[in-house]
Amino acid sequence: MDAISLLKQDHRKVDALFRQFERAGPARGGGQKKGLLEKIIRELSVHTAIEEQVFYPLVRKGAPDTTDNVLIALEQHHVAKWELDELEGMDPDDDRFEAKVLVLIDNIRHHVEEEEEALFPQVQAGLTRQQLDEIGNRLAQARESVPTRPHPRMPDEPPGNVVAGPAAAVVDRAYERGKEAVEQIREQVGRTGD
Ligand SMILES: [Fe+2]
Repeated sequence: MDAISLLKQDHRKVDALFRQFERAGPARGGGQKKGLLEKIIRELSVHTAIEEQVFYPLVRKGAPDTTDNVLIALEQHHVAKWELDELEGMDPDDDRFEAKVLVLIDNIRHHVEEEEEALFPQVQAGLTRQQLDEIGNRLAQARESVPTRPHPRMPDEPPGNVVAGPAAAVVDRAYERGKEAVEQIREQVGRTGD
């Protein structure tokens, strides 16, 4: 799949999660919102990481007139990662939870709109079909090995992110497996307690 189609597909996927969040009941009292937020955090962490490791550096190299828009996109990602980082540890019963997610959603929609309306057309004009396919393949590959949690303090440009990313990804994926294991144990304990 070419890079632009792949990234647009990611954008639609995350927007579907945003709409589910907006429609879900109150965050307080253990509704669906915490679970939806966890999915949003994972999707956005992976998406921002593959763009930062693969897409932005390669399009800047292939089409240097994209530089200003790439730099804006990096700043938007930076803000989003701080928001995700704060949200990751937040209790849905917290007064600020809902508002913080809604502001994140607003910011991401604005970022997506700018990418699709300003950056992507420049990329399509500056790179060949073959280059876009090649970048698409690299984005798909990177998805398997990038961090799955936000790392706002980590470098977001090469070579820093290429060096630090894999180690963070290993830790994130171990953390996810640990969380799954804890949930399984909780379920089992719950069942034996029935
Ligand atoms: Fe982005």
